[in-house]
Amino acid sequence: MHNPQLNKNGELAHLLSIEGLPKGILTQILDTAASFMEVSARDVKKVPLLRGKSVFNLFFENSTRTRTTFEIAAKRLSADVINLDINKSSTAKGETLLDTIDNLVAMHANLFVVRHASSGAPFLITEHLRRIGRDDVHVVNAGDGRHAHPTQGLLDMYTIRHYKKDFTQLTVAIVGDVLHSRVARSQIHALTTLGVPEIRVIAPKTLLPTAVERLGVRVFHDMKEGLRGVDVVMMLRLQSERMEGALLPSSQEYFKAFGLSPDKLALAKPDAIVMHPGPMNRGVEIDSAVADSGQAVILPQVTFGIAVRMAVMDILAGTQGAAE
Ligand code: CP
Repeated sequence: MHNPQLNKNGELAHLLSIEGLPKGILTQILDTAASFMEVSARDVKKVPLLRGKSVFNLFFENSTRTRTTFEIAAKRLSADVINLDINKSSTAKGETLLDTIDNLVAMHANLFVVRHASSGAPFLITEHLRRIGRDDVHVVNAGDGRHAHPTQGLLDMYTIRHYKKDFTQLTVAIVGDVLHSRVARSQIHALTTLGVPEIRVIAPKTLLPTAVERLGVRVFHDMKEGLRGVDVVMMLRLQSERMEGALLPSSQEYFKAFGLSPDKLALAKPDAIVMHPGPMNRGVEIDSAVADSGQAVILPQVTFGIAVRMAVMDILAGTQGAAE
């Protein structure tokens, strides 16, 4: 079946989802990111791999980490970066998404970074670019609805590989609001493709998609059972903005049952790492005593995100590979 993310040579042309991407491409992105981390460790601030290219950040939903790290990453690759202010753009006057894209393509856009509340919006743009014959313009999904957040999934994989080295020896737990989480979906696909033998999801029944087991995960409704012996704990934010009706009794009761506190974390392996994509709700899904502890790698995740986003943009639109 045709994968809209790959060109006819099987190379990455757009990054829309981790689902369906071969292990070789995930590894290529992680290895390229590692080379950018080395460049950065040598205090090299910029590389010329996207010089003369224009990256448009189109964020139709709020963001702190993703938008900013894409901007930093594009600037480090020497691209011109345009952050479209959606609230002040002609979207507010009724211009359609695809008319906006046509106008930005006419301004010589080379790469769109798109966050949208509607699942499938980045795919829609990709199909439009194909129809108008603009294979030279690339799309990166920066989070669409409940569907996917592939660069978050990839930076999470980079973080796990950095601290744990070998995916094939790990037990990983994903905890919280899986139902509404594009991050969880991207994580599960990435962990599966990279060979993690045991992926657990821990959540109340109301926050799990139906038939989630079909994704190849083990389901737990009890934190204490689910966390026993895990190497990696990946916490999720409660996505209250996507909840319809009361799926939870109260945030205090949620914290008691599913919040990561030091006593619950003590059931994981002693060297387990704790991750969170942010933004965190302290005292709801995670205790500050855990979030600020030596086991938390939440801020390194953000730093690795710059290198991972550099890697994705370089592979799509630049001269693949780090600076000499
Ligand atoms: N993790 C994440 O996507 O954070 P932002 O919403 O701040 O971009």
